[in-house]
Amino acid sequence: MSPCPSVSLFLVFFLTVLHAASADGGNTSIIHETCKKCAQEDPNVGYKFCVASLESNPMSHCADLRGLGLISIKLLRHNVTETRSYVKKLLKSKKTDPFIKACLQDCLELYTDAVLTLEEATRAYKVERYEEANVDLSSVMDAPTTCEDGFAEKGAASPLAERNKDAFRLSALALSIVTMLSRSSH
Ligand SMILES: *[C@@H]1O[C@H](CO)[C@@H](O)[C@H](O)[C@H]1NC(C)=O
Ligand SMILES: *[C@@H]1O[C@H](CO)[C@@H](O)[C@H](O)[C@H]1NC(C)=O
Repeated sequence: MSPCPSVSLFLVFFLTVLHAASADGGNTSIIHETCKKCAQEDPNVGYKFCVASLESNPMSHCADLRGLGLISIKLLRHNVTETRSYVKKLLKSKKTDPFIKACLQDCLELYTDAVLTLEEATRAYKVERYEEANVDLSSVMDAPTTCEDGFAEKGAASPLAERNKDAFRLSALALSIVTMLSRSSH
């Protein structure tokens, strides 16, 4: 019998360890580190929410902080665009209460503005005008809150509660990363 089986077993073990190390080393810990900071600075973000959101984009694993910032803005853009389409769908539906429709109409305007503002934020971010991106993101963050308040004022149950919450938290996440970057670029 040759000693090969044990050598290859060793090799398999070695490769497995190497693989496990590189799977995390590419570099996942920047996500965790960034999320820890974001959650500390803004309790609206939440560590788990931050990690789950950023990890939903495979590019996060090989991004630096600047890359993560852009990813967070893109996630927010996608989310806000989706919600805007959903609002339009609800407005078209005959099943939607006219009373709710009045609120939805306001939300549609807010989300439409938010989509445009996010395009501006992306442009500003890409040329490292972080203060501008910050102002844009802060105004985007108001949209889900104002939309949600509209339902609350009329004592109606919001069909957008979860979506508004997602948009709010994703804005807080993007804002928090942009704030970190603007501090480090001074
Ligand atoms: C990943 O990032 C952490 C913290 O920034 C660092 O300590 C670690 O060495 C990095 N790992 C790799 C493989 O770059
Ligand atoms: C919006 O973002 C949240 C949080 O990342 C996510 O759970 C949800 O699936 C997103 N919704 C859409 C429509 O992308």
